[in-house]
Amino acid sequence: MKRVLTGIQSTGIPHLGNILGAIRPAIAMANQPENVSFLFIADLHSLTTVKDASARMHNTYAVAAAWVAFGLDTEKNFFYRQSRVPAVTELTWYLNCFTPFPMLANAHSFKDKSDRLSDVNAGLFTYPVLMAADIILYQADLVPVGKDQVQHIEIARDIATAFNNRYGHTFNLPEARVDDRVMLVPGLDGKKMSKSYNNTIDIFLPEKELDKVIKSIVTDSTPIELPKNPDTCTVFSIYSLLASTEQQQQMRSNYLKGGYGYGHAKKELFGLILDTFREPRARYVELMENLPMLEELLCKGEEKTSKVAMATLHEVRRKLGYE
Ligand code: ADP
Ligand code: TRP
Repeated sequence: MKRVLTGIQSTGIPHLGNILGAIRPAIAMANQPENVSFLFIADLHSLTTVKDASARMHNTYAVAAAWVAFGLDTEKNFFYRQSRVPAVTELTWYLNCFTPFPMLANAHSFKDKSDRLSDVNAGLFTYPVLMAADIILYQADLVPVGKDQVQHIEIARDIATAFNNRYGHTFNLPEARVDDRVMLVPGLDGKKMSKSYNNTIDIFLPEKELDKVIKSIVTDSTPIELPKNPDTCTVFSIYSLLASTEQQQQMRSNYLKGGYGYGHAKKELFGLILDTFREPRARYVELMENLPMLEELLCKGEEKTSKVAMATLHEVRRKLGYE
């Protein structure tokens, strides 16, 4: 069985981009019989940017509820909060001492964040070491991630290799899995959908609020009567990611023939989102209204996950002379 591992930071409520680009594909991999998956909420990583305790707790539950709402089999797989398996922080310290300083100083994502953020803390700097610990603690084989995270997986391999060379084989070397077919979801303004751009569609919102968000997708001012270009329209792009071929062709021809406004297209997109996500939306609300149930699923997962983590950690401690 291949061990597949990926995490999502609890920095917000998962949006349509996170769902189509990360959560759904990871669950599809987890449900394949030849894989077992470690799917977790990276709530320690979120502290590098989010300092508010109640926001973190809420977002952590929201990410957990999204995993479950989209059909993660929590019995077969390993489902947990990063912070609740503290072996990972101990391993992070050990790995820090095998990580060359320039490797972190040259990481793209650190350079990018340190240019953008006002709070450039040491946690942002050592972020890739915690991520390496996340991965190699569980001897993961495959790590499905977006392109921006590939360098972090290379760092994890380099750190694991440095340790293995010095102490003998201890860690499996993980491989990044970047799926080019995974959708890049545009946001309300047509740029990549991202929390950092404030252009997200939260598909778990109540209907009225969701409708309002969809109505706020930016379009040009072509009048209703005139033909419109579907290929430059964000409403059409998002619709296409969810629609069947027939539905796409129908909307394309509506755009091209004129007499069809952006308001009509937004209404159809709203309907399609409700239809596509009817079940996960209901399941999400049910879980968020019953946090003890979600907490129980997480605690069970964390107990199971800790055993795997401790097996690696004992070996590392022994090799380093701590045990
Ligand atoms: P954000 O950009 O909103 O902060 P994250 O960086 O936390 O999102 O991303 C979490 C996961 O969701 C990553 O695997 C990332 O590749 C995926 N993801 C985020 N935004 C999109 C998007 N617009 N389209 C496709 N996948 C996305
Ligand atoms: N850094 C990842 C992101 O921002 C989240 C993450 C943390 C992760 N630990 C991980 C992803 C381990 C894969 C494996 O998207």
